[in-house]
Amino acid sequence: MNPFVFEAPTRIEYGEGMAASAAEILKGLGASKILIVSDQGLVKSGVIAPILKCFQEDQSLSTSIFTDVPPDSDVTCVNKAAAQAAKDGCDGVLAIGGGSVLDAAKVVNIALTLGGDVLDYQGMNNLTNRLKPMVAIPTTAGTGSEVSAVAMVRDVAEGKKLLYGSRFLAPDVSILDPTLLVSLPAKLTAATGLDAVTHCIEAYSVEVTRSPLTDVLCLEGLRLLFQSLPQATKHGDDLEARSNTMIAATMAGIAFTNLGVGVVHALAHATGGQFGTHHGTTNSVFLPYGMQFNLEVVAPRYATMARYLKLTDDKNDEVAAQTLIARVKALSGEIGLPSRLRDLGVPALKQDQLENLASLANSDPAIMFNPKEASVQDIIGIYERAY
Ligand SMILES: NC(=O)c1ccc[n+]([C@@H]2O[C@H](COP(=O)([O-])OP(=O)(O)OC[C@H]3O[C@@H](n4cnc5c(N)ncnc54)[C@H](O)[C@@H]3O)[C@@H](O)[C@H]2O)c1
Ligand SMILES: [Fe+2]
Repeated sequence: MNPFVFEAPTRIEYGEGMAASAAEILKGLGASKILIVSDQGLVKSGVIAPILKCFQEDQSLSTSIFTDVPPDSDVTCVNKAAAQAAKDGCDGVLAIGGGSVLDAAKVVNIALTLGGDVLDYQGMNNLTNRLKPMVAIPTTAGTGSEVSAVAMVRDVAEGKKLLYGSRFLAPDVSILDPTLLVSLPAKLTAATGLDAVTHCIEAYSVEVTRSPLTDVLCLEGLRLLFQSLPQATKHGDDLEARSNTMIAATMAGIAFTNLGVGVVHALAHATGGQFGTHHGTTNSVFLPYGMQFNLEVVAPRYATMARYLKLTDDKNDEVAAQTLIARVKALSGEIGLPSRLRDLGVPALKQDQLENLASLANSDPAIMFNPKEASVQDIIGIYERAY
Protein backbone atom coordinates (compact mmCIF):
# COMPACT_ATOMS: atom_id res chain seq x y z
CA MET A 1 0.00 0.00 0.00
CA ASN A 2 1.17 3.56 -0.76
CA PRO A 3 2.05 5.81 2.20
CA PHE A 4 -0.84 8.14 2.98
CA VAL A 5 -1.93 10.97 5.27
CA PHE A 6 -5.57 11.19 6.34
CA GLU A 7 -7.03 14.22 8.09
CA ALA A 8 -10.57 14.94 9.28
CA PRO A 9 -10.13 17.96 11.56
CA THR A 10 -13.82 18.93 11.89
CA ARG A 11 -15.88 17.61 14.79
CA ILE A 12 -19.28 16.46 13.48
CA GLU A 13 -22.44 16.68 15.59
CA TYR A 14 -25.43 15.03 13.93
CA GLY A 15 -29.07 15.00 15.01
CA GLU A 16 -32.59 16.21 14.23
CA GLY A 17 -32.93 19.62 15.93
CA MET A 18 -29.19 19.71 16.67
CA ALA A 19 -28.84 23.21 15.12
CA ALA A 20 -30.28 24.60 18.36
CA SER A 21 -27.01 23.75 20.12
CA ALA A 22 -24.93 26.14 17.98
CA ALA A 23 -24.75 28.79 20.71
CA GLU A 24 -23.51 26.30 23.32
CA ILE A 25 -20.97 24.87 20.90
CA LEU A 26 -19.55 28.30 20.08
CA LYS A 27 -19.30 29.15 23.77
CA GLY A 28 -17.44 25.89 24.27
CA LEU A 29 -14.97 27.05 21.63
CA GLY A 30 -14.35 30.24 23.62
CA ALA A 31 -16.33 32.64 21.41
CA SER A 32 -18.82 35.20 22.72
CA LYS A 33 -19.30 37.77 19.93
CA ILE A 34 -20.52 35.78 17.01
CA LEU A 35 -20.63 36.78 13.35
CA ILE A 36 -23.59 34.89 11.85
CA VAL A 37 -23.37 34.52 8.07
CA SER A 38 -26.23 33.43 5.83
CA ASP A 39 -28.17 34.42 2.70
CA GLN A 40 -31.55 35.88 1.79
CA GLY A 41 -32.94 32.57 0.52
CA LEU A 42 -32.42 31.10 3.97
CA VAL A 43 -33.95 34.10 5.70
CA LYS A 44 -37.05 33.73 3.50
CA SER A 45 -37.30 29.97 3.95
CA GLY A 46 -37.46 30.44 7.73
CA VAL A 47 -34.43 28.21 8.35
CA ILE A 48 -32.33 30.66 10.33
CA ALA A 49 -34.96 32.33 12.58
CA PRO A 50 -35.14 29.51 15.19
CA ILE A 51 -31.33 29.33 15.34
CA LEU A 52 -31.04 33.10 15.82
CA LYS A 53 -33.62 32.88 18.63
CA CYS A 54 -31.30 30.57 20.60
CA PHE A 55 -28.58 33.24 20.39
CA GLN A 56 -30.92 36.06 21.35
CA GLU A 57 -32.03 34.13 24.43
CA ASP A 58 -28.45 33.69 25.63
CA GLN A 59 -27.39 36.83 27.52
CA SER A 60 -23.73 35.80 27.54
CA LEU A 61 -23.50 36.06 23.73
CA SER A 62 -23.78 38.94 21.29
CA THR A 63 -24.28 38.61 17.55
CA SER A 64 -23.51 40.49 14.36
CA ILE A 65 -25.71 39.25 11.54
CA PHE A 66 -24.80 39.28 7.84
CA THR A 67 -27.37 37.68 5.52
CA ASP A 68 -26.41 39.07 2.12
CA VAL A 69 -24.19 36.35 0.66
CA PRO A 70 -24.99 36.03 -3.08
CA PRO A 71 -24.89 32.70 -4.94
CA ASP A 72 -21.23 31.59 -5.19
CA SER A 73 -20.40 34.48 -2.86
CA ASP A 74 -18.18 37.30 -4.11
CA VAL A 75 -15.06 39.06 -2.84
CA THR A 76 -17.01 42.31 -2.39
CA CYS A 77 -19.50 40.66 -0.06
CA VAL A 78 -16.68 38.92 1.83
CA ASN A 79 -14.93 42.25 2.44
CA LYS A 80 -18.21 43.83 3.55
CA ALA A 81 -18.95 41.04 6.04
CA ALA A 82 -15.36 41.10 7.33
CA ALA A 83 -15.52 44.87 7.91
CA GLN A 84 -18.79 44.46 9.81
CA ALA A 85 -17.34 41.63 11.94
CA ALA A 86 -14.20 43.64 12.74
CA LYS A 87 -16.27 46.71 13.70
CA ASP A 88 -18.42 44.56 16.00
CA GLY A 89 -15.36 42.89 17.55
CA CYS A 90 -16.45 39.34 16.61
CA ASP A 91 -14.40 36.48 18.00
CA GLY A 92 -16.23 33.57 16.38
CA VAL A 93 -18.10 32.72 13.17
CA LEU A 94 -21.30 30.76 12.55
CA ALA A 95 -22.22 29.95 8.95
CA ILE A 96 -25.76 28.75 8.21
CA GLY A 97 -26.32 27.87 4.59
CA GLY A 98 -25.22 26.04 1.50
CA GLY A 99 -21.72 25.99 0.07
CA SER A 100 -21.91 29.65 -0.97
CA VAL A 101 -22.49 30.79 2.61
CA LEU A 102 -20.04 28.34 4.18
CA ASP A 103 -17.28 29.27 1.73
CA ALA A 104 -17.95 33.00 2.18
CA ALA A 105 -17.79 32.64 5.98
CA LYS A 106 -14.48 30.77 5.76
CA VAL A 107 -12.90 33.58 3.72
CA VAL A 108 -14.48 36.24 5.97
CA ASN A 109 -12.78 34.47 8.88
CA ILE A 110 -9.41 34.82 7.12
CA ALA A 111 -9.86 38.58 6.88
CA LEU A 112 -11.27 38.84 10.40
CA THR A 113 -8.41 36.86 11.96
CA LEU A 114 -5.44 37.87 9.83
CA GLY A 115 -6.50 41.29 8.51
CA GLY A 116 -5.45 42.77 5.18
CA ASP A 117 -6.85 42.05 1.74
CA VAL A 118 -8.43 38.62 1.26
CA LEU A 119 -7.03 38.48 -2.27
CA ASP A 120 -3.53 38.17 -0.76
CA TYR A 121 -4.39 34.81 0.84
CA GLN A 122 -5.76 33.02 -2.23
CA GLY A 123 -4.19 29.78 -3.38
CA MET A 124 -3.02 26.77 -1.45
CA ASN A 125 -1.49 26.82 2.02
CA ASN A 126 -1.13 30.57 2.40
CA LEU A 127 -2.46 30.62 5.97
CA THR A 128 0.02 30.10 8.76
CA ASN A 129 -2.26 30.62 11.79
CA ARG A 130 -5.37 29.05 13.20
CA LEU A 131 -8.44 31.18 12.49
CA LYS A 132 -11.14 32.26 14.94
CA PRO A 133 -13.48 29.44 15.99
CA MET A 134 -15.97 28.57 13.26
CA VAL A 135 -19.11 26.45 13.34
CA ALA A 136 -20.84 25.43 10.11
CA ILE A 137 -24.48 24.45 9.78
CA PRO A 138 -24.98 23.16 6.23
CA THR A 139 -28.47 23.55 4.77
CA THR A 140 -27.73 21.74 1.52
CA ALA A 141 -26.40 18.19 1.17
CA GLY A 142 -23.73 18.47 -1.47
CA THR A 143 -20.66 20.64 -1.30
CA GLY A 144 -18.92 19.08 1.71
CA SER A 145 -17.71 22.56 2.64
CA GLU A 146 -18.77 21.79 6.23
CA VAL A 147 -15.70 19.55 6.53
CA SER A 148 -13.45 20.65 3.70
CA ALA A 149 -10.23 22.62 3.92
CA VAL A 150 -11.08 24.75 0.89
CA ALA A 151 -13.33 27.66 -0.01
CA MET A 152 -14.25 29.09 -3.41
CA VAL A 153 -15.37 32.65 -3.80
CA ARG A 154 -16.35 34.20 -7.11
CA ASP A 155 -14.60 37.30 -8.34
CA VAL A 156 -17.51 38.61 -10.39
CA ALA A 157 -15.49 41.48 -11.89
CA GLU A 158 -12.80 39.07 -13.17
CA GLY A 159 -15.27 36.33 -14.19
CA LYS A 160 -13.48 33.61 -12.23
CA LYS A 161 -13.61 31.65 -9.01
CA LEU A 162 -10.86 32.13 -6.45
CA LEU A 163 -9.65 29.16 -4.46
CA TYR A 164 -8.51 29.24 -0.86
CA GLY A 165 -7.00 26.05 0.50
CA SER A 166 -5.62 25.47 3.99
CA ARG A 167 -6.17 22.98 6.79
CA PHE A 168 -7.12 26.01 8.92
CA LEU A 169 -10.21 26.53 6.76
CA ALA A 170 -11.95 23.36 7.92
CA PRO A 171 -14.64 24.44 10.43
CA ASP A 172 -14.00 23.46 14.06
CA VAL A 173 -17.46 21.95 14.37
CA SER A 174 -20.17 21.12 11.86
CA ILE A 175 -23.73 20.54 12.93
CA LEU A 176 -25.62 18.18 10.64
CA ASP A 177 -29.32 18.71 11.23
CA PRO A 178 -31.43 17.03 8.52
CA THR A 179 -34.58 18.97 9.51
CA LEU A 180 -32.98 22.07 7.95
CA LEU A 181 -33.02 20.38 4.53
CA VAL A 182 -36.80 19.97 4.38
CA SER A 183 -37.30 23.41 2.79
CA LEU A 184 -34.61 22.86 0.13
CA PRO A 185 -36.44 22.83 -3.25
CA ALA A 186 -36.34 19.64 -5.34
CA LYS A 187 -34.18 21.20 -8.06
CA LEU A 188 -31.50 22.24 -5.56
CA THR A 189 -31.75 18.94 -3.70
CA ALA A 190 -31.00 17.15 -6.96
CA ALA A 191 -28.22 19.52 -8.03
CA THR A 192 -26.42 19.59 -4.68
CA GLY A 193 -26.78 15.80 -4.42
CA LEU A 194 -25.08 15.40 -7.80
CA ASP A 195 -22.23 17.59 -6.53
CA ALA A 196 -21.72 15.01 -3.77
CA VAL A 197 -21.98 12.16 -6.31
CA THR A 198 -19.25 13.89 -8.34
CA HIS A 199 -17.07 14.23 -5.23
CA CYS A 200 -17.37 10.50 -4.52
CA ILE A 201 -16.52 9.49 -8.09
CA GLU A 202 -13.75 12.00 -8.75
CA ALA A 203 -12.10 11.49 -5.35
CA TYR A 204 -12.24 7.70 -5.73
CA SER A 205 -10.38 8.05 -9.04
CA VAL A 206 -7.43 9.91 -7.50
CA GLU A 207 -4.35 7.75 -7.07
CA VAL A 208 -2.19 9.82 -4.67
CA THR A 209 -2.93 9.45 -0.92
CA ARG A 210 -5.70 6.93 -1.61
CA SER A 211 -6.24 4.63 1.36
CA PRO A 212 -8.82 2.22 2.76
CA LEU A 213 -10.10 5.17 4.82
CA THR A 214 -10.90 7.25 1.75
CA ASP A 215 -12.12 4.22 -0.24
CA VAL A 216 -14.83 3.44 2.27
CA LEU A 217 -16.00 7.08 2.39
CA CYS A 218 -16.33 7.27 -1.41
CA LEU A 219 -17.97 3.89 -1.87
CA GLU A 220 -20.41 4.12 1.02
CA GLY A 221 -21.10 7.81 0.33
CA LEU A 222 -22.03 6.96 -3.25
CA ARG A 223 -24.20 4.04 -2.15
CA LEU A 224 -26.17 6.27 0.24
CA LEU A 225 -26.63 8.91 -2.46
CA PHE A 226 -27.88 6.43 -5.05
CA GLN A 227 -30.19 4.95 -2.44
CA SER A 228 -31.69 8.18 -1.06
CA LEU A 229 -31.29 11.05 -3.52
CA PRO A 230 -34.38 10.21 -5.63
CA GLN A 231 -36.50 9.95 -2.49
CA ALA A 232 -35.07 13.16 -0.94
CA THR A 233 -35.78 14.97 -4.22
CA LYS A 234 -39.35 13.71 -4.58
CA HIS A 235 -40.29 13.72 -0.89
CA GLY A 236 -38.30 16.52 0.72
CA ASP A 237 -39.87 15.86 4.14
CA ASP A 238 -38.53 12.29 4.33
CA LEU A 239 -36.01 12.81 7.11
CA GLU A 240 -34.34 9.44 6.65
CA ALA A 241 -33.62 10.19 3.00
CA ARG A 242 -32.47 13.71 3.95
CA SER A 243 -30.16 12.30 6.65
CA ASN A 244 -28.63 9.80 4.24
CA THR A 245 -27.85 12.44 1.63
CA MET A 246 -26.52 14.83 4.27
CA ILE A 247 -24.18 12.28 5.85
CA ALA A 248 -23.09 11.03 2.42
CA ALA A 249 -22.24 14.57 1.30
CA THR A 250 -20.13 15.04 4.44
CA MET A 251 -18.40 11.70 3.87
CA ALA A 252 -17.61 12.77 0.31
CA GLY A 253 -16.31 16.09 1.67
CA ILE A 254 -13.85 14.32 3.96
CA ALA A 255 -12.81 12.09 1.06
CA PHE A 256 -12.08 14.87 -1.43
CA THR A 257 -10.33 16.95 1.23
CA ASN A 258 -7.82 14.10 1.51
CA LEU A 259 -7.71 13.24 -2.19
CA GLY A 260 -8.79 16.05 -4.52
CA VAL A 261 -11.29 16.06 -7.38
CA GLY A 262 -10.65 16.26 -11.15
CA VAL A 263 -11.52 17.47 -14.62
CA VAL A 264 -15.29 17.67 -13.97
CA HIS A 265 -14.75 20.13 -11.13
CA ALA A 266 -12.12 22.04 -13.11
CA LEU A 267 -14.68 22.55 -15.89
CA ALA A 268 -17.48 23.39 -13.44
CA HIS A 269 -15.30 26.02 -11.74
CA ALA A 270 -14.35 27.66 -15.05
CA THR A 271 -17.93 27.57 -16.39
CA GLY A 272 -19.42 28.75 -13.08
CA GLY A 273 -16.87 31.56 -12.84
CA GLN A 274 -17.74 32.83 -16.33
CA PHE A 275 -21.49 32.24 -16.51
CA GLY A 276 -22.63 31.94 -12.89
CA THR A 277 -24.08 28.46 -13.41
CA HIS A 278 -24.85 26.53 -10.21
CA HIS A 279 -21.91 24.36 -9.12
CA GLY A 280 -23.77 21.09 -8.59
CA THR A 281 -25.88 21.44 -11.73
CA THR A 282 -22.77 22.16 -13.80
CA ASN A 283 -20.97 19.15 -12.34
CA SER A 284 -23.97 16.95 -13.10
CA VAL A 285 -23.81 17.91 -16.79
CA PHE A 286 -20.04 17.39 -17.14
CA LEU A 287 -19.81 14.24 -15.01
CA PRO A 288 -20.66 11.51 -17.58
CA TYR A 289 -18.39 13.14 -20.17
CA GLY A 290 -15.52 13.56 -17.71
CA MET A 291 -15.92 9.91 -16.66
CA GLN A 292 -15.91 8.77 -20.28
CA PHE A 293 -12.71 10.78 -20.85
CA ASN A 294 -10.99 9.21 -17.82
CA LEU A 295 -12.33 5.71 -18.48
CA GLU A 296 -9.21 4.26 -20.13
CA VAL A 297 -7.16 4.82 -16.96
CA VAL A 298 -9.77 4.34 -14.23
CA ALA A 299 -12.01 1.56 -15.55
CA PRO A 300 -11.03 -0.76 -12.65
CA ARG A 301 -12.00 1.93 -10.12
CA TYR A 302 -15.35 2.67 -11.77
CA ALA A 303 -15.93 -1.08 -12.06
CA THR A 304 -15.35 -1.51 -8.31
CA MET A 305 -17.87 1.25 -7.65
CA ALA A 306 -20.42 -0.32 -10.02
CA ARG A 307 -20.05 -3.72 -8.33
CA TYR A 308 -20.21 -2.19 -4.83
CA LEU A 309 -23.47 -0.49 -5.80
CA LYS A 310 -24.69 -3.86 -7.15
CA LEU A 311 -25.28 -2.31 -10.57
CA THR A 312 -23.55 -5.24 -12.24
CA ASP A 313 -21.54 -8.38 -11.52
CA ASP A 314 -19.81 -8.33 -14.90
CA LYS A 315 -16.17 -9.41 -14.52
CA ASN A 316 -15.01 -7.18 -17.37
CA ASP A 317 -13.90 -3.83 -15.88
CA GLU A 318 -14.69 -1.80 -18.98
CA VAL A 319 -18.21 -3.19 -19.21
CA ALA A 320 -18.82 -2.72 -15.48
CA ALA A 321 -17.42 0.84 -15.63
CA GLN A 322 -19.79 1.72 -18.48
CA THR A 323 -22.66 0.55 -16.27
CA LEU A 324 -21.68 3.17 -13.69
CA ILE A 325 -21.54 5.95 -16.30
CA ALA A 326 -24.96 4.95 -17.64
CA ARG A 327 -26.41 4.83 -14.12
CA VAL A 328 -25.03 8.31 -13.28
CA LYS A 329 -26.76 9.67 -16.40
CA ALA A 330 -29.98 7.88 -15.52
CA LEU A 331 -29.91 9.20 -11.94
CA SER A 332 -29.53 12.80 -13.16
CA GLY A 333 -32.47 12.36 -15.53
CA GLU A 334 -34.60 10.65 -12.87
CA ILE A 335 -34.19 13.58 -10.46
CA GLY A 336 -34.88 16.17 -13.14
CA LEU A 337 -31.44 17.60 -13.85
CA PRO A 338 -30.61 18.93 -17.33
CA SER A 339 -28.30 16.80 -19.43
CA ARG A 340 -26.84 19.53 -21.65
CA LEU A 341 -24.82 22.62 -20.86
CA ARG A 342 -26.93 24.67 -23.28
CA ASP A 343 -29.90 23.99 -20.99
CA LEU A 344 -28.13 25.90 -18.19
CA GLY A 345 -28.29 29.11 -20.23
CA VAL A 346 -24.65 28.98 -21.27
CA PRO A 347 -24.34 30.69 -24.70
CA ALA A 348 -22.63 29.02 -27.66
CA LEU A 349 -18.97 30.07 -27.51
CA LYS A 350 -16.67 31.25 -30.30
CA GLN A 351 -13.39 29.35 -30.68
CA ASP A 352 -11.31 31.94 -28.78
CA GLN A 353 -13.84 32.01 -25.90
CA LEU A 354 -13.81 28.23 -25.78
CA GLU A 355 -10.02 28.17 -25.65
CA ASN A 356 -10.03 30.77 -22.91
CA LEU A 357 -12.51 28.77 -20.81
CA ALA A 358 -10.60 25.52 -21.39
CA SER A 359 -7.33 27.24 -20.40
CA LEU A 360 -8.96 28.41 -17.18
CA ALA A 361 -10.09 24.84 -16.47
CA ASN A 362 -6.63 23.57 -17.40
CA SER A 363 -5.03 25.83 -14.77
CA ASP A 364 -7.67 25.12 -12.09
CA PRO A 365 -6.12 23.38 -9.07
CA ALA A 366 -8.70 20.56 -9.38
CA ILE A 367 -7.09 19.39 -12.62
CA MET A 368 -3.87 18.43 -10.79
CA PHE A 369 -5.60 15.40 -9.31
CA ASN A 370 -7.30 14.15 -12.47
CA PRO A 371 -6.13 10.58 -13.07
CA LYS A 372 -5.45 11.25 -16.76
CA GLU A 373 -3.51 14.14 -18.25
CA ALA A 374 -6.03 16.57 -19.79
CA SER A 375 -4.78 19.08 -22.37
CA VAL A 376 -6.65 22.25 -23.34
CA GLN A 377 -7.79 20.40 -26.48
CA ASP A 378 -9.03 17.45 -24.40
CA ILE A 379 -10.99 19.84 -22.20
CA ILE A 380 -12.51 21.54 -25.22
CA GLY A 381 -13.60 18.08 -26.41
CA ILE A 382 -15.35 17.32 -23.09
CA TYR A 383 -16.98 20.76 -23.10
CA GLU A 384 -18.27 20.39 -26.66
CA ARG A 385 -19.68 16.93 -26.00
CA ALA A 386 -21.46 18.25 -22.90
CA TYR A 387 -22.80 21.33 -24.69
N1 LIG B 1 -15.64 24.47 -0.07
C1 LIG B 1 -15.94 23.35 -0.67
O1 LIG B 1 -15.42 22.30 -0.31
C2 LIG B 1 -16.90 23.35 -1.81
C3 LIG B 1 -17.14 22.16 -2.52
C4 LIG B 1 -18.07 22.20 -3.54
C5 LIG B 1 -18.74 23.39 -3.85
N2 LIG B 1 -18.46 24.53 -3.16
C6 LIG B 1 -19.11 25.82 -3.47
O2 LIG B 1 -20.43 25.79 -2.94
C7 LIG B 1 -21.24 26.69 -3.71
C8 LIG B 1 -22.56 26.05 -4.03
O3 LIG B 1 -23.22 25.74 -2.83
P1 LIG B 1 -24.62 24.99 -2.80
O4 LIG B 1 -24.70 24.08 -3.95
O5 LIG B 1 -24.78 24.41 -1.46
O6 LIG B 1 -25.70 26.13 -3.08
P2 LIG B 1 -25.84 27.62 -2.50
O7 LIG B 1 -25.18 27.73 -1.18
O8 LIG B 1 -25.42 28.56 -3.57
O9 LIG B 1 -27.41 27.73 -2.28
C9 LIG B 1 -28.30 27.76 -3.39
C10 LIG B 1 -29.63 28.37 -2.98
O10 LIG B 1 -30.29 27.48 -2.09
C11 LIG B 1 -30.87 28.20 -1.04
N3 LIG B 1 -30.94 27.28 0.10
C12 LIG B 1 -29.90 26.66 0.72
N4 LIG B 1 -30.34 25.85 1.68
C13 LIG B 1 -31.68 25.95 1.70
C14 LIG B 1 -32.70 25.34 2.47
N5 LIG B 1 -32.44 24.42 3.40
N6 LIG B 1 -33.98 25.70 2.22
C15 LIG B 1 -34.28 26.60 1.26
N7 LIG B 1 -33.37 27.20 0.47
C16 LIG B 1 -32.07 26.88 0.69
C17 LIG B 1 -29.96 29.37 -0.82
O11 LIG B 1 -30.65 30.43 -0.20
C18 LIG B 1 -29.54 29.69 -2.25
O12 LIG B 1 -30.46 30.57 -2.83
C19 LIG B 1 -20.42 27.07 -4.92
O13 LIG B 1 -19.91 28.37 -4.78
C20 LIG B 1 -19.29 26.07 -4.93
O14 LIG B 1 -18.12 26.55 -5.53
C21 LIG B 1 -17.57 24.51 -2.15
FE1 LIG C 1 -18.13 20.18 -5.79
